[in-house]
Amino acid sequence: MSVLPTIPALTDFSVRLIAWQRQHGRHDLPWQNTRDAYRIWLSEIMLQQTQVSTVIPYYTRFLARFPDVASLAAAPADDVMALWAGLGYYSRARNLHRCAQGVVEQHGGVFPASVEALAELPGIGRSTAAAIASFAFGARATILDGNVKRVLARVFGVEGFPGEKRVENAMWVLAESLLPSNATNEAVVAYTQGLMDLGATLCVRGRPDCARCPFAADCVANVTGRQRELPAARPKKAVPTRRTWMLVLRDGNSVMLEKRPPSGIWGGLWSLPEAADEAALAQRARALGASAAVSPLAPLTHTFTHFRLDIEPRIVELNRVAGAHAALADGETAWVALSDIDAYGVPAPVRKLLDGLQGSLL
Ligand code: ADE
Repeated sequence: MSVLPTIPALTDFSVRLIAWQRQHGRHDLPWQNTRDAYRIWLSEIMLQQTQVSTVIPYYTRFLARFPDVASLAAAPADDVMALWAGLGYYSRARNLHRCAQGVVEQHGGVFPASVEALAELPGIGRSTAAAIASFAFGARATILDGNVKRVLARVFGVEGFPGEKRVENAMWVLAESLLPSNATNEAVVAYTQGLMDLGATLCVRGRPDCARCPFAADCVANVTGRQRELPAARPKKAVPTRRTWMLVLRDGNSVMLEKRPPSGIWGGLWSLPEAADEAALAQRARALGASAAVSPLAPLTHTFTHFRLDIEPRIVELNRVAGAHAALADGETAWVALSDIDAYGVPAPVRKLLDGLQGSLL
């Protein structure tokens, strides 16, 4: 299936976004209204994975202590880490310091203006490089962070999980195609900021405010009511499957339960005797006193967080006279009347299996 089912009929995306940003976007964040690449770079690194409101006090303190790239480059690493403490994702702080040193040593203390050169520096990925190039130098470069992916997935109906390479690549192509042509530096800044603002203020993950969105009439997600489905969630990891054979050893209305070891799945609960395959289960049945062959019951599946358990139940009738199996009961096993199962801690799928048996009693 193609990631981009229809290429946008929205030819005026950038025009509308710029107009919306000028009127309704954010204009007074501490890193706006400057062309200082150092300040812009610092804000963009801090804003990776961190909210604006959390970043602001850190940004202010950082600038007070390190007003330019040279002072940051010259600082002891411990001082940088100490000022970063609390912002999280500490590899960002280490890269920040190394990047400042790189700018001083390789670029004479001046941030390079191209996306390519910026992206060579530590901690600056393709989207961050584009944000810096666009805000500091008015470059016509597209950003594609998590917020922008959400906006594009919804407006243009991009299917698939955006963290997947194939989908991300398609989004880069789409994002590039949407850039304003012949735009002034100021318009480029408004466009880039507009993408961020739309994603952060209206086209939010939880409850997007579509009524106020400049793309409401054309947005695939809004028009088709798929805001919750776009962008697609991370696909669930395939969980490994384990298979186990369980023995229902029945004597009239009683079954034999076995206490599980204290650790591991269902630790300490009462369950059915188990074996790793059919033959081993038949052997256990014989050892427990069954002479008849075991017969299959309907298999069932139980899903744990990290794996799926396929249960193959087998039943065998013991047909002993009441009381004769007392010898089988020890600390680890017990004969339990199906009507008394409630008194034992029995795992849910085993309980379900035994409930099914009760209905089949003669
Ligand atoms: N998130 C990433 N960059 C940002 C910026 N410049 N302004 C607001 N939020 C952002």
